[in-house]
Amino acid sequence: TQTHDLVLHRGFGLISGIHDPEDVEQIYDLEVRDSDVFVVTYPKSGTIWMQQILLLIEAKGDLTAISQEGNNSDLVPWIELKGNREAFIVAPSPRLRVSHLQYKFMPAALSRRKGKVIYVARNPKDVLVSYFHFHNFANMLETPKDFDDFFEKFMAARVFGGSWFEHVKTWYSHSDDMNMLFITYEEMIQDLPSVVKRISGLLGKDLTEEQLADVVKHSTFKNMKKIPQASYEQVSDDLLNHSQGRFMRKGTIGDWKNHFTVAQSERFDEAFHREMQDFPLSFIWD
Ligand code: PPS
Repeated sequence: TQTHDLVLHRGFGLISGIHDPEDVEQIYDLEVRDSDVFVVTYPKSGTIWMQQILLLIEAKGDLTAISQEGNNSDLVPWIELKGNREAFIVAPSPRLRVSHLQYKFMPAALSRRKGKVIYVARNPKDVLVSYFHFHNFANMLETPKDFDDFFEKFMAARVFGGSWFEHVKTWYSHSDDMNMLFITYEEMIQDLPSVVKRISGLLGKDLTEEQLADVVKHSTFKNMKKIPQASYEQVSDDLLNHSQGRFMRKGTIGDWKNHFTVAQSERFDEAFHREMQDFPLSFIWD
């Protein structure tokens, strides 16, 4: 196992070994087709959940149609991973992709209303907790000494994804330029059927009520956990140390309360208020 460090690229920390700055730089100029769909998230905000939902919508709820040997990321890859930009250029439509990149790196064509964007935001205290646990088992990320250590790293934006505030604010402020659905993780927890319906609408897929119900059924936390290609249980031990944690960890709202001290929570609230006061975004915290 190897621990890679973050490499700063135009102020954004990429993960050396899995990201190539020169490749990432060229994403901006990619040609985008109207049928392309990009799910954009700050890490730990619902990415793999959305991969499963997109695939199921394409398959009209038929799980057997998407079952395969690898992982969902083979079918809905991260555009910023090494080699994936070249593959994107020649891939057949519809090209479904996920990304954790900040707005400034993503294809400029998106802001000319080419393609579609689904931005998923999650309350950042739960993001921090989920990301802390992820750092403990993802071999490409430095293992934090303890929660306090990771809390400081996150607050200082010394993580892949950069500042949570920056990420959400820049994407949100460009939402009117794009064909974008802005969704929160908490909405997905509270009313998955309506989120699935909105997404199938964005994708122009006309699913029956029964097919929509199947999409929902195969993307609940409990069921996804049992589907290896959706839960990332098959990712190689080089990348993930499966004895130290799992992607499908808790899938709840409010786990931050089991981790944050009162002082950390107050500091976080202060930062949130300062950074987000001009943004009409509200989150569900528990
Ligand atoms: S990553 O590494 O950025 O791609 O991770 P990401 O997929 O964005 O986030 C992982 C968290 O999403 C939770 N998750 C779900 N929650 C509810 N329902 C479903 N179906 C689901 N699928 C994934 C996963 O459990 C991680 O959150 P935590 O809080 O760690 O449990």
